[in-house]
Amino acid sequence: MRGLTGKRAIVTGGGSGIGAAIARAMAAEGAEVAVLDLSRERAEAVADEIGGTAITVNVVDPEAMDQAVADAVEAMGGLTCMVNNAGIGSLEPMHEYTPKQWDLLLDVNLKGTFNGVRSAVPHLRESGRAGRPASVVNIASVSGIRPTRGEAPYGAAKAGVIALTMSGALEYGPDGIRVNCVSPGFIRTALTEFAFAVPAYVEAIEAGTPLGRTGTAEEVADVVVFLAGDQARFVTGVKIYFRSHSTLLPSMRKRTAAKCLRRSRPTSSRSSKTTTTREMFANWRTSSNGPSS
Ligand SMILES: NC(=O)c1ccc[n+]([C@@H]2O[C@H](COP(=O)([O-])OP(=O)(O)OC[C@H]3O[C@@H](n4cnc5c(N)ncnc54)[C@H](O)[C@@H]3O)[C@@H](O)[C@H]2O)c1
Repeated sequence: MRGLTGKRAIVTGGGSGIGAAIARAMAAEGAEVAVLDLSRERAEAVADEIGGTAITVNVVDPEAMDQAVADAVEAMGGLTCMVNNAGIGSLEPMHEYTPKQWDLLLDVNLKGTFNGVRSAVPHLRESGRAGRPASVVNIASVSGIRPTRGEAPYGAAKAGVIALTMSGALEYGPDGIRVNCVSPGFIRTALTEFAFAVPAYVEAIEAGTPLGRTGTAEEVADVVVFLAGDQARFVTGVKIYFRSHSTLLPSMRKRTAAKCLRRSRPTSSRSSKTTTTREMFANWRTSSNGPSS
C-alpha cells in the first residue's frame, strides 16, 4: 500500500513549480488530488497528468475559495489534507514598494493561506470525526525567518504563514487536525528562474548550503508527503526549514548572493547596495505566475 492511499488532498498553486511537484508526489503515493490554481491551463495540465481534479480559483478571494474547496470535496468525496502553497514574490527596495504591491504580496502569500485554512477546516473536521486523520501543510519560506535584501513584504508574509501554522496547530489539535509548515530555500521554479540565469548568484547560494547545492521542487514535495501521511501522525506545529547558508552557517553570511552578484558586475555599475540589488533583479518584479500588480 502506498503512503497516502485513501487520502484526499487539495494543493493550491498546484499548476506550477513546487505545487505541481507536491500534487504529483501525493498522487504517486495514492492520494486523490485537487489542483487549485489561478491558471486554468496549468491546473488542468497537472490534474490531467495525475488523474486529479482541476479547479480555477484566486486564493485571495474568500468566497471563491469556499466554493473551490467545496467543489474539490464533492469531487473527491472528502478532504484529509490541505496544502496551502500558492504564492508570489517580488524584489524591490523596501521604501519603493507601492501600497498596492504590499497588499498584493500580503494578500496572496498570507491571506491566501488563511483563506485556505478557513475554507478547509470544516471539511477536515468532518474527516477527523469520521476517523480519517486530517492535516494542513503550509508552504512558507526561509525568507520568513531570514529574508534577503528586497524581500520585505514577501518575508513579512511568510513570517505570518509560520505564525499562522503555530496558531493552527494549537487550535485544531483537539480536532485531530495536524498543522505544519515547510519553508523551502532556493528552488528552481518559475518564481526563481530569473535568478538561476545569473550563475554567480547560484554559486553563492550553493557555496553556503550544507549540501553544496540548491534543492528541487521534488525534494520539497517528499517532505510534504511525509507530513500529510500517517507516519507523521504525532507531528504538528512543526516548521521545517530547507538549507541554508543564512540559517545554518553564520560564517558564510558575509558572502551573500548579492555581494557575489555585485562582484560579477563591472565596477562602474556598483553605485550603492540598494541600487545594485534593484538593478540586478530588474527583469523580475512580481513573479510571472502570479497576478500582476
Ligand atoms: N521557488 C522557491 O525558491 C521558493 C522558496 C521558498 C518558498 N517558495 C514558496 O513555494 C510556493 C510555490 O512557489 P513556486 O516556486 O512553485 O512558484 P511558481 O510561480 O512556480 O508557482 C506558483 C503557482 O501559484 C499560482 N498562484 C499564484 N497566485 C495565485 C493566486 N492568487 N491564487 C491561486 N493560485 C495562484 C500560480 O499560478 C502558480 O501556478 C510559494 O508559496 C512560494 O512562496 C518558493
